[in-house]
Amino acid sequence: MTGLQTSLVERIREKHAHIGVIGLGYVGLPLAVEFARAGFDVTGFDVDEDKVRQVNAGRSYIPDVSQDELGHVVTQGRFRATIDFSELSHVDVVDICVPTPLRKTKDPDLSFVVQALDVVAANLRKGQLVILESTTYPGTTDEVALPVLRATGLEVERDFFLAFSPERVDPGNKTYTTSNIPKIVGGYGAASTEAASVLYSQVVSNVVPVSSTRVAEMVKLLENTFRAVNIGLVNEIAQMCDKLDIDVWEVIDAAKTKPFGFMPFYPGPGLGGHCIPIDPFYLSWKARQTGFECRFIELAGHVNAAMPEYVVERVATALNARRKAVNGSRVHLFGMAYKKDVGDVRESPALDILDHLLRRGATLSYSDPYVPSIKHGDQLFEHVEPADALHRGTDCFVICTDHSIFDWKPIVDSGVPIVDTRNALRAFRSPTIVSLSGRTRGAPPDAA
Ligand SMILES: NC(=O)c1ccc[n+]([C@@H]2O[C@H](COP(=O)([O-])OP(=O)(O)OC[C@H]3O[C@@H](n4cnc5c(N)ncnc54)[C@H](O)[C@@H]3O)[C@@H](O)[C@H]2O)c1
Repeated sequence: MTGLQTSLVERIREKHAHIGVIGLGYVGLPLAVEFARAGFDVTGFDVDEDKVRQVNAGRSYIPDVSQDELGHVVTQGRFRATIDFSELSHVDVVDICVPTPLRKTKDPDLSFVVQALDVVAANLRKGQLVILESTTYPGTTDEVALPVLRATGLEVERDFFLAFSPERVDPGNKTYTTSNIPKIVGGYGAASTEAASVLYSQVVSNVVPVSSTRVAEMVKLLENTFRAVNIGLVNEIAQMCDKLDIDVWEVIDAAKTKPFGFMPFYPGPGLGGHCIPIDPFYLSWKARQTGFECRFIELAGHVNAAMPEYVVERVATALNARRKAVNGSRVHLFGMAYKKDVGDVRESPALDILDHLLRRGATLSYSDPYVPSIKHGDQLFEHVEPADALHRGTDCFVICTDHSIFDWKPIVDSGVPIVDTRNALRAFRSPTIVSLSGRTRGAPPDAA
């Protein structure tokens, strides 16, 4: 170990290390607050001036970070944000949490990571630890980050330290948060792995070191590919159950009583969010560079991407049963966010469902208290209170996202057909309910 590494590790252990977090979004803001709560001085860097202003005013824009928590560390002077990246030269640790989207061609878009690396390199000094947290393909840290940092003339493991540590946070999850989700850490070498492991062990209860940055990058992609493929499988099973006239939800509930060898995944209107629909394509892109074709990823991608149209077909069937066409009908969506109890609409399948229904001539409205408005082309849609949605002459409701806040009883009692893509109405019996596996859920025998 070099003297530089020893003194960095000591500074971290004594909480004297100054931490910089680049990218104050869903991942970076909770992480920065966690470091500040642990007693570190933290500076957040973002290109978005509005976010920087809000942080410095102690106002949280991320549901997983409470106003109290943020306000407390800002008032204490432990955490502040800036758009001045030259301040990176003052920090001991740089944590990069910028977006890693896909291009239209489904190729990785590392432009945000490269921009962040350029400013890190411009301010790199001896003794700093640089960690990439953004989800990306195996090899990014070695092949993309390292050359940019080495071009400064400083050498990794001798002058500075470099690691990859994937963020595994699950927005909206109250049980597992930044502090109790085990943290995978893979350094360029032993000194980098140790420094990054010591850092995270100050704020995370379980740190899992792995042998390289590539392994750490691959861990994250395996996890999210596992989800994408299994959701694809269960979405296909749901369509199969429709043909076989079987309630897919009942099948899953019974199958999950097996105490080993089965893990439940649930069908739905399609994949959403910043991770599951995107990350597997980072892996398939990288594998293709070696001539390897990822058939599972591609197949799951096809099945999952087709789910919004499948839902629209269910809507057409529900309307048809009432001698109505999609064209000219009023359809109201419950939930625009991609998952329960969050306000994130990135890649949300509800947006695709809205788009398909508009193209087929329906008139659309929606309720989602977490999403005040959405823009679709030139059209602006605004959240409608669920109670008001009942008095708009709606022809069909679609449950896209089952936020806990929704009260389903008046909606079921309205007698309007409801396409339930989430099994939100499992407790109700009514012939107006159309589940994803196609069966209407009629009245129970005792109510007949
Ligand atoms: N959101 C999740 O649930 C989640 C979970 C695990 C991993 N990840 C991964 O974490 C990374 C960040 O995701 P996120 O959801 O926090 O994204 P986000 O869009 O919520 O936040 C990213 C932030 O980075 C800022 N930014 C963009 N370019 C910048 C630059 N050059 N310099 C400084 N700031 C810049 C943006 O303004 C934004 O505030 C992605 O790679 C994502 O795949 C996300």
